[in-house]
Amino acid sequence: MNNLSFFLFLFSASIAYPAAADDSTSAFIYAGCSQTRYAPGSPSQLNVDSLLSSLASASFASPYSNLTSAVASAAFPAFGLFQCRGDLQPSDCAECVRSALSRISSLCPFAAGAAVQLAGCFLLYGNDSFVGKPDTSVLYKKCGAAAGAGYGPDQIGIRDAALASLTGRGNGPTAGGYRVGAAGYVQAAAQCVGDQSASQCDDCVAVAAAQLRAACGYAVAGDAYLGKCYARFWYNRNGAYNDEAYHHHHDDDETGKTAAIVIGLIAGVALLIMFLTFLRKAGSYGKD
Ligand SMILES: *[C@@H]1O[C@H](CO)[C@@H](O)[C@H](O)[C@H]1NC(C)=O
Ligand SMILES: *[C@@H]1O[C@H](CO)[C@@H](O)[C@H](O)[C@H]1NC(C)=O
Repeated sequence: MNNLSFFLFLFSASIAYPAAADDSTSAFIYAGCSQTRYAPGSPSQLNVDSLLSSLASASFASPYSNLTSAVASAAFPAFGLFQCRGDLQPSDCAECVRSALSRISSLCPFAAGAAVQLAGCFLLYGNDSFVGKPDTSVLYKKCGAAAGAGYGPDQIGIRDAALASLTGRGNGPTAGGYRVGAAGYVQAAAQCVGDQSASQCDDCVAVAAAQLRAACGYAVAGDAYLGKCYARFWYNRNGAYNDEAYHHHHDDDETGKTAAIVIGLIAGVALLIMFLTFLRKAGSYGKD
């Protein structure tokens, strides 16, 4: 079932990353680079460069795409994909992918493979094909602050119901579809990469939800990013769709940078991934 290779590589890092974007779609969540690098000017580099520019072009036309480049050398093909959040306009998707590519070029120069997750899109490339394979390894997770009084005794039950509403619905997830759920004052959302089947997506989101249940206790928000999907929840008594709960948390604890715990690795690509996170303070949104 899961024939992917996993390399556990514990790494945490905290870096100040200059804010490059003026909206939260491009907010940086994590990135990882393979330790193996290609030689500058090599056929591998030409394949990767061509792949990345093709991904940038494809992001104007579609919220998900997988591509392979072997233009310079069929012996060293480069595989890549991106997935934009399902509710983005094409121009916002393209903007997000462009921003992801610029993060990759500064964080992972010459890397044989890399992954970057921004708030609005995910981009992954490597020299081994991961397309269509499931990957439920946990790459990054975080929990918000503990809820204050006033949420009632069944807080955990309500959160769990919100998370459960993300999976196993009769209508089923579409590939790459952005899924929103809720129960009471808890909102939830999830998305899989577009290469996953409905059942792979459901399985992945269920694992992400279980991670949140196990890690986030009475927290008012939580995010779990896995190899091929993510799930998140946040308290919002007004029911409106936003992630205020989370941003308040970061405001409150003055955390501009957060060390990421790393836990896994994009499977199949033999990427040794170093996770770097930078969470911009909510207060800085819109100022730059
Ligand atoms: C990917 O590149 C690394 C480093 O060059 C190499 O060790 C690995 O065998 C490559 N994988 C494939 C499938 O070519
Ligand atoms: C990968 O891309 C090709 C060409 O666009 C497409 O036909 C195929 O369905 C995609 N595969 C997956 C698993 O998304």
